[in-house]
Amino acid sequence: MNSTGSNIAADAFRRLHGAAPAGVWSAPGRVNLIGEHTDYNDGFVLPFAIPHRTWVAASPREDGVITLASVQDGQVEVAEPVRLAELEPGTAQGWVAYPAGVAWVLRQQGVGGGADLVVAGDVPRGAGLSSSHSLEVATALALLGLSGADPSKSDIAKWVQQAENDFVGAPTGLLDQTASLCCTDAHVLFLDVRSGRQEQVPFDAGAHGLEVLVIDTRVSHSLVESGYGERRRGCERAADVLGVASLRDAAGEEGLPDELRPLARHVITENERVLKTVELLKQERYAEIGPLLSASHASLRDDYRVSCVELDVAAEAAEKAGALGARMIGGGFGGSAIALVPRELRERVETGVAEAFAAQGFGSPRMFAAVPAAGAGRDV
Ligand code: GLA
Repeated sequence: MNSTGSNIAADAFRRLHGAAPAGVWSAPGRVNLIGEHTDYNDGFVLPFAIPHRTWVAASPREDGVITLASVQDGQVEVAEPVRLAELEPGTAQGWVAYPAGVAWVLRQQGVGGGADLVVAGDVPRGAGLSSSHSLEVATALALLGLSGADPSKSDIAKWVQQAENDFVGAPTGLLDQTASLCCTDAHVLFLDVRSGRQEQVPFDAGAHGLEVLVIDTRVSHSLVESGYGERRRGCERAADVLGVASLRDAAGEEGLPDELRPLARHVITENERVLKTVELLKQERYAEIGPLLSASHASLRDDYRVSCVELDVAAEAAEKAGALGARMIGGGFGGSAIALVPRELRERVETGVAEAFAAQGFGSPRMFAAVPAAGAGRDV
């Protein structure tokens, strides 16, 4: 969809509302190179934006109503309009909850005008590539843009997190919305969630003869219903027992009850792996990050226990076919994995993964090579 995604949203807007939108805003999905389940533990993450985006064409309304429509494969789905003054958690269901949640939070920030919104996008849904956050971020930018407000990106990220936590009901951290807002072309974003410190680290796998292959298992996941919240609560309990503010500060697992040890172990070792990855990338030692990716997967599978059989098969098959490392990304329980693949082995890895999936009787995975793309912004 890419360069035409904005046109698709604007054209559908014109057809529905009889006039061009006041503007079109867009936000990307993301891949997290490494640093999983560390964000809500005040730790480190290293995402990059993917070229897949969500576009929101928008114009203001005077009546405090938000109308919503989405374009999917040329079909326009018009949702029930929502009245801003009546928005409360639980009042919007399905995909509408994401833009409605953002409008609800922004209303509390004094951004309370109504709007017509038409959404188009090509971020695969439920694939662990942050489709919901790209929708939330694009909606936030559209509503803020229409109101003329210009807050900082870190404020926008916090408001989007609030929409996700308190309105949608998914207890997620700051990784996805910050990635969508702050990532830049050709870089990974090294984010220290505790301090908010950001560093754009150049990331050009292609120059090293490598590709980051995304393997979408097509096992759809939900962060509202999965074990995500339980893991998060486990980490908070572990930090309490250790007497630290968050697991970011934990030096080891001693003193923890057996069931909390693996959670702490994952967070402590994953933060270390992020720091090592950043160091290796800065030294242009790209191939050496492979084992760190694989160690991250093993830790998420065995200690944090958020993988699933499809993600494990994807990572194993990719490595067996020549990937230098592979890991699940995002919340887990489905979604996508990534593999660091020498360019000349890309086809072999794709075939290896597809065959392993077929042998297990799984549906076909979707695969594409991801290159860091631009973050969110105004298109038109
Ligand atoms: C999801 C959440 C993020 C983060 C990851 C795991 O993507 O939205 O906040 O916790 O899972 O790293």
